[in-house]
Amino acid sequence: MAHRYERIVILTGAGLSAESGLSTFRDKDGIWSKVRIEDVATPEAFARDPQGVLDFYNGRRNNSRGVEPNAAHAALARLEADYPGEVLTVTQNIDPLHERAGTTNLIHMHGEILKTLCHHCGARGPYDRDLMVHEACGHCGREGGLRPDVVWFGEMPYEMERIYAALGVCDLFISIGTSGNVYPAAGFVAEARGAGARTVELNLEPSEGISHFDEAIHGKATEVVPAYVERLLAG
Ligand code: NAD
Ligand code: APR
Repeated sequence: MAHRYERIVILTGAGLSAESGLSTFRDKDGIWSKVRIEDVATPEAFARDPQGVLDFYNGRRNNSRGVEPNAAHAALARLEADYPGEVLTVTQNIDPLHERAGTTNLIHMHGEILKTLCHHCGARGPYDRDLMVHEACGHCGREGGLRPDVVWFGEMPYEMERIYAALGVCDLFISIGTSGNVYPAAGFVAEARGAGARTVELNLEPSEGISHFDEAIHGKATEVVPAYVERLLAG
């Protein structure tokens, strides 16, 4: 009898969007080989050089506009739509490719590049122009506080309670396209194992957390993810 999972949690990282043309962070030529985290991805950087941080994210926002979801995003949307059990996708990615492929049960734990957050009033909302430091918030009217709605190093990710609740009851955990370098996401596989879930890594190469996985299939996401989804859908 083929195993049917009741509750699947999927964690995705930058490697899922690599074949759509978006850079990863820690591969050769990755984002962090070109710019320093402490210069663009911390609250201190924003306080020190707000326009410099906005320029960095304006560039990444424009990149994410011009790209399309790939076969791996499409396969995950199909899994959510067609699999008889519940499927929750938790992404570390700030690009909109999961939702553009059709995934709906989705958490952007590091925020979304196409949204802004007002430092002053906390209002979040879509934004389709480059962010300028003196732009006034459409909600509270104050200037100098608009930032990309992206979680920086040292900040708490979004929806952690909902994520841990899902990890605590899942029976299959699939990690895709993430190096397992950044916590708390890097600790999710251990949470899932603690709940008795089967754990599977689909990645170009072994991640930092490889020893926690029951199964690992290494290769390009556009190849290994559709193949694994077909296996799940076949029962
Ligand atoms: P961390 O201590 O977990 O650092 C994780 C990795 O990030 C490190 O292994 C290192 O590779 C890199 N890193 C972190 N700070 C760095 C720095 N100042 N210089 C160079 N490399 C650095 O990260 P943290 O500071 O504890 O932050 C964790 C929180 O930040 C989590 O909530 C995570 O979700 C969030 N986060 C957001 C982003 C983002 O760009 N959206 C990036 C990473 C972490
Ligand atoms: N197919 C599958 N996996 C791939 C592919 C691909 N085509 N290309 C790269 N990878 C894998 C790499 O082997 C690597 O393990 O994707 C992973 C990318 O790792 P990172 O660049 O570290 O990206 P990620 O794990 O998402 O980073 C986590 O760190 O800087 C922060 O906020 C940022 O959310 C990000 C977090």
